[in-house]
Amino acid sequence: MNQHLQTLLDLIQKSEALTDSEKNNILAKVKEIDKIISIIEFKLDRTEKVKKTTAILLEETIEELEQKRKAIEETNVALQKSLEELKAAQALLIQSEKMASLGELTAGIAHEIQNPLNFVNNFSELNTELISELKDEIEKGNTEEMRTLADNIVANEQKINHHGKRADAIVKGMLQHSRSSSGVKEPTDINALAEEYLRLAYHGLRAKDKSFNAKTETDFDISLGNVNVVPQDIGRVILNLITNAFYAVTEKKKQNINGYDPIVSVSTNKHGDKIEVRVADNGYGIPLKVMDKIFQPFFTTKPTGQGTGLGLSLSYDIVKAHGGELKVETKEGEGSVFIIQLPFTVQTKLI
Ligand SMILES: Nc1ncnc2c1ncn2[C@@H]1O[C@H](COP(=O)(O)OP(=O)(O)OP(=O)(O)O)[C@@H](O)[C@H]1O
Ligand SMILES: [Mg+2]
Repeated sequence: MNQHLQTLLDLIQKSEALTDSEKNNILAKVKEIDKIISIIEFKLDRTEKVKKTTAILLEETIEELEQKRKAIEETNVALQKSLEELKAAQALLIQSEKMASLGELTAGIAHEIQNPLNFVNNFSELNTELISELKDEIEKGNTEEMRTLADNIVANEQKINHHGKRADAIVKGMLQHSRSSSGVKEPTDINALAEEYLRLAYHGLRAKDKSFNAKTETDFDISLGNVNVVPQDIGRVILNLITNAFYAVTEKKKQNINGYDPIVSVSTNKHGDKIEVRVADNGYGIPLKVMDKIFQPFFTTKPTGQGTGLGLSLSYDIVKAHGGELKVETKEGEGSVFIIQLPFTVQTKLI
């Protein structure tokens, strides 16, 4: 029994003021209290033991958590590393895609430069003849004839200059295309850009495959003016769409459908605060089951080794980076229209 209670009981036993029955009564009560105290002591002891076990468990859990944290940290480092490797691989792929599209352009560019060069050569030969005629007229002192010849020479000279500048612009455009994008937006004549790339893509394909043929149509909104874009980037988007369109009509043509006339058309228009560039073809269209995949990187339905499947995904990223949208409308077997929508910012040239 609890020591204090025992002392209390001894005192009560000795008391003469209490009857035996009263003492027995108190004894019973004290015994009951002693029992309660024992129970409380037992419970306290048990709680103490549980506390200790819990503390040990907690320590073990903390240690385990620490190990897990370290493992996660290591996984994170590994993930970060592979992410960087992936980014490097993606950059390489983008570069090679750009080189591939430059390859597609080379034949077109050669054709495009050939034209102005022919003019330059022809007019310069003509001028050589006219100058010798002029010399003869000088000998004869025929002023009237001299003046006419000189005027002709000046007119030819202007043509030489015009076509020389054109060849110069083509070469500059090609260099611009192969350089990494400057990322700088500048007022750009979208109509001229679209027309240029349509021609380059067409002649590029013709040079590679003499049997290739498709009708090209353009419908440009001349009220468009200059639009603020990164010309190399938007040029690449237009080129990708045009190349895809030519591919789709060429493939459809292979099916030898009676009366099929492959047509690729490029048009521009203004809609409120947006401008649109539409590249339409009457090719094989896009089947519903591939529609939601076409903008994914590396998705291609071209035979192995022919397409990277990056054209549309890169184009999508470029248009998004311009704050625009790249949309598509298509009907399987009938053709597709790809629509580039860009925010329109009016550019006024300051002179
Ligand atoms: N005008 C189109 N008509 C029909 N299908 C198209 C058209 N444009 C794109 N597609 C579909 O979308 C897919 C992805 O196009 P994307 O330009 O990204 O890659 P690709 O043309 O296959 O390859 P790459 O551009 O590298 O030559 C194509 O393989 C084709 O299935
Ligand atoms: Mg493509």
